[in-house]
Amino acid sequence: MNKKVIIDCDVGVDDALALILAFGSPELEVLGIAGVNGNVSLPKVMKNIEKVLTLIRPSNRPWVARGADRPLQGDPVHAESLHGEDGLGGAQIQPEEAGRYWQVFPGAAEELLIEMARRYPAQITLIAIGPLTNLALALQKDPEAMRQFNEIVVMGGAVRTRGNITPHAEFNFYVDPLAAKIVLDSGLPGTLVPLDATHQVPLTPELMEEKVRPRQNSFSQFVIEATGYESGEGYFRGGRKAFYLHDPLAVGAVIQPEWVKKEKLSISVEAKKGEFYGKSYEVSGRKTNAEVCLKVDREKFLGLFLNSLLGENRHL
Ligand code: BDR
Ligand code: CA
Repeated sequence: MNKKVIIDCDVGVDDALALILAFGSPELEVLGIAGVNGNVSLPKVMKNIEKVLTLIRPSNRPWVARGADRPLQGDPVHAESLHGEDGLGGAQIQPEEAGRYWQVFPGAAEELLIEMARRYPAQITLIAIGPLTNLALALQKDPEAMRQFNEIVVMGGAVRTRGNITPHAEFNFYVDPLAAKIVLDSGLPGTLVPLDATHQVPLTPELMEEKVRPRQNSFSQFVIEATGYESGEGYFRGGRKAFYLHDPLAVGAVIQPEWVKKEKLSISVEAKKGEFYGKSYEVSGRKTNAEVCLKVDREKFLGLFLNSLLGENRHL
């Protein structure tokens, strides 16, 4: 039986790759997508969702809902240096109109979460791969409904490793630490996929040359453009030697949970301004609130990812 999922995202290059993986996986049925301010501003995120769905052409016409355009506290912070000005590295896709490949949800993202959780009690896995603002708003509005999710899988945090936006904080938690704290403290059944795990699954120049470039279909072309991969030079946008598959790993952890090694921990997030803003940390002596992925079977995950992205079942 396939798993019903909703994906809350801030598309974003690796968010786009996560959507491609999710829609290409026979194990999953993507019912809806919620957009949230994050890697780029909300209008760009919503446009990018449309572009990626135009590329994917899903036959089940998922709901698309517009979410929060700013964090619960503080000002929006974006990550254009990694994702490009438009959030998709300038990849050329002319988005279709709504209706053919997706439907516009007639309400805000938190309402989509609440409505779907109530409609399919204990059946949906919510995968959150952006700042957790929409989830926190839904929790504030209807905590009972949010308890109807089967599981919540969050890409965020840096538990026993360095941050990626500051030395201490990971991007998604840094953008809206209060929302992250609300979600983690809610007691919902949660899996956390932090940098500790996602840094084990990079796209490398070797993989790009051996697997992605030779494939020459619309998806391989998209990966090259969106990640800003320069073949002659062998690096990604900004001169990076690795492009981490943060968000696809959160989807992978739902498709093949046995490929990630988890530890039950109690995790909190620093929401007070200062050096440690957005930092996730372990709290000892407190009831555990998350299953934290600390190790991943890299070969198996990368195999799944590349096969789903570039496999024979993908249209040209
Ligand atoms: C997270 O931050 C974003 O830039 C990525 O899309 C991912 O969700 C990694 O820290
Ligand atoms: Ca993201």
